[in-house]
Amino acid sequence: MSVVLHVDSSVRAISNAHTEHGSISKRLAKQFILRFKDEAGIDEYIYRDVGVNAPRFITQDWIGAVFTPESERTSQQQQLLRESDQLIAEVEKADFIVISSPMYNYGMPAQLKAWFDQIIRINKTFDFDLARGDKPLAPILSGKTLLIITSSGEFGFEKGGVNEESSHLVPHLRTLSKYLGVTEIYEIASEYQEFADHRHKKSLQMAESQAKELAFILAEKLRRKTC
Ligand SMILES: Cc1cc2nc3c(=O)[nH]c(=O)nc-3n(C[C@H](O)[C@H](O)[C@H](O)COP(=O)(O)O)c2cc1C
Repeated sequence: MSVVLHVDSSVRAISNAHTEHGSISKRLAKQFILRFKDEAGIDEYIYRDVGVNAPRFITQDWIGAVFTPESERTSQQQQLLRESDQLIAEVEKADFIVISSPMYNYGMPAQLKAWFDQIIRINKTFDFDLARGDKPLAPILSGKTLLIITSSGEFGFEKGGVNEESSHLVPHLRTLSKYLGVTEIYEIASEYQEFADHRHKKSLQMAESQAKELAFILAEKLRRKTC
C-alpha cells in the first residue's frame, strides 16, 4: 500500500490569463507526479493546493483546544481542530510527500506556513519531554520521503551561493519536515525567473530533467519499500 501526498502552494495556476507567467513550481510538480504515478503504481494520491485553498491561520482558541486533553474537549474545540485532524491524517497516511513552493519574500508562502502550523501539533506529530534536555521536542511520525520543488526569481540560494544569507525557503522546509515524519529529502529548484534570460531557461530545463529522472528513481525506491 503506497500513498502519495502532493501539496502545491503557489497562488498562481499553471496556466492563467491574469499574470505574465503560470506557476513554475506547480508545473514542475505536475510533470514529476504524472511520471511518478505511471511508474510507481501508487494506491492513493492525495492533492492539496494550499495556494488557492489556504488552511486557516491558527488562533488563541485553536492553541487552547490543542492543549486541552482529548477526552475533555468541547464540541466547539473538536470542531476547531477538525481541519488540523484532516491535514494530519493525510500526512500520517502518506509514504511519499511532494511539496512545491514558490519563494515569496525569501521564504515560503504564508499559505504553506499555515498548512505546517495546522499539522505540527503536540501529541499528534511531535511530543515534548524535558527529560530530553536541550532538545525536548521529538517527532512522532517517521519513515517518509519528501521531494521539495521550488521556484525563485533570483538565484544562488545554495551553500556558498550569492544569496545564501537570504535562503529561508528550503532550510525552513527541511527543518519542519522532520515533524511530518520525513527521514529522506530530495530537491529540485528552478531559479532566475525574474531575469528571464538564458540562465532561467537553463535552470528550468535542468529542473525538468531532474523531475523526470527522479520520478523513475523514487518510483523504484517506493516500489521496493512498499512491496
Ligand atoms: C509576492 C512575491 C514575492 C516574491 N519574493 C521573491 C523573493 O524573495 N526572492 C526571489 O528570488 N523571488 C521572489 N519572487 C519571485 C518568485 O519566486 C518567482 O516568480 C517564482 O517563479 C514563483 O513561483 P511560481 O512560478 O511557482 O508561482 C516573488 C514573487 C512574488 C509574487
